[in-house]
Amino acid sequence: KVVAVIMVGGPTKGTRFRPLSFNTPKPLIPLAGQPMIHHPISACKKIPNLAQIFLIGFYEEREFALYVSSISSELKIPVRYLKEDKPHGSAGALYYFRDRIMEEKPSHVFLLNCDVCCSFPLQDILDAHRRYGGIGTMLVIKVSAEAASQFGELIADPDTKELLHYTEKPETFVSDLINCGVYVFTSDIFKAIEKVYSQMRDTSSNYQISSFDHFQSATRSVPADFVRLDQDILSPLAGKKQLYTYENKDFWEQIKTPGKSLKCSALYLSQFRQMSPHLLASGDGTDKKPMIVGDVYIHPSVKLHPTAKIGPNVSISANVRIGPGVRLISCIILDDVEIKENAVVINSIIGWKSSIGRWSRVDASGDCNERLGITILGEAVTVEDEVAVIGSIVLQNKTLNVSVQEDIIL
Ligand code: GDD
Repeated sequence: KVVAVIMVGGPTKGTRFRPLSFNTPKPLIPLAGQPMIHHPISACKKIPNLAQIFLIGFYEEREFALYVSSISSELKIPVRYLKEDKPHGSAGALYYFRDRIMEEKPSHVFLLNCDVCCSFPLQDILDAHRRYGGIGTMLVIKVSAEAASQFGELIADPDTKELLHYTEKPETFVSDLINCGVYVFTSDIFKAIEKVYSQMRDTSSNYQISSFDHFQSATRSVPADFVRLDQDILSPLAGKKQLYTYENKDFWEQIKTPGKSLKCSALYLSQFRQMSPHLLASGDGTDKKPMIVGDVYIHPSVKLHPTAKIGPNVSISANVRIGPGVRLISCIILDDVEIKENAVVINSIIGWKSSIGRWSRVDASGDCNERLGITILGEAVTVEDEVAVIGSIVLQNKTLNVSVQEDIIL
């Protein structure tokens, strides 16, 4: 038996997702028409002998209740939300719920960050881990040297794949091989975390981690019961024949900003094209069906005028109404939105219950010098007729009756 744990974090981590994260936890924001965490959850579902999936976070339970019950019955696998009373760090949170996680005595525990987008090759990671042995195996990928510094950089033995050196978000370049935030562990991971806790107890209540590779300073104080997987567990265990790496050969992105979520939505839509093309919309402008270009997801409840033209990279959630002559390119349209005749939406995310007026334009940029790269309308924003909203972020419940460009509307 195996179990999977998805770390969902909590409200303080979602600030870069404002205004979308005001009323919806970031892990539930739809990408390719499905909540962000639906994608790792459906990858978990494919692992043989998966007993349970745990979501661990410090959001209120009620925020996940509906999703957890609907996905459990849809996938016929128990998905449970476990709420921490406060953040314990990515390893501390795992440890906090160790009894629940180990209840059914699983041989392995998968651990996934909620905010990564990839094909989650979980069975391949487990197979590799069984060959390597040790406490755990982590998914890694090569990125450009400039991009690497935003992630955990690591060095792996080219032959044995052992993790030799690990440093979290280093200031100076270490390696272009980075941590993807997807792991499999044996139950020994709990002993490794326990060891860090007992070292912390041996010092004072506000202990100091001496970590020469930390990006801010050589020593740093963190709360006494806060243990980070990367700095506190992976770094010290590197080079001890305990941790191994499995290189990802498919797509991978981190989802820290709404701009990234548009890109990740496109990646998941193209994965649907390969794995489950029946989820994608089709149409060529005849037979009362609108013209669909490229990969597009449209919820069955959407009312779409046949003269609209949609795609590529568009996902449209439940109960949206799209009027005649509307053009949508690279955007995410959330539930209950209305887009009126001849409006255009490009490189944007349109929040729940918003309304876009006739001949209006919502776009990332007016010319090719993209600055924000995306326009986001929060929940229940009204854009009146013939108004342009360009490269802007609009908070919930606003009404725009004049055009705005490169602005933040509070
Ligand atoms: N439940 C819970 N409690 N979850 C947490 C907590 C906590 O106290 N702290 C972080 N998380 C969750 C986040 O929501 C996220 O899914 C995951 O744990 C990792 O978050 P961070 O610890 O903030 O790290 P990061 O996302 O900046 O970087 C990590 O992931 C990268 C890959 O996306 C690191 O492991 C990097 O090395 C790695 O490259």
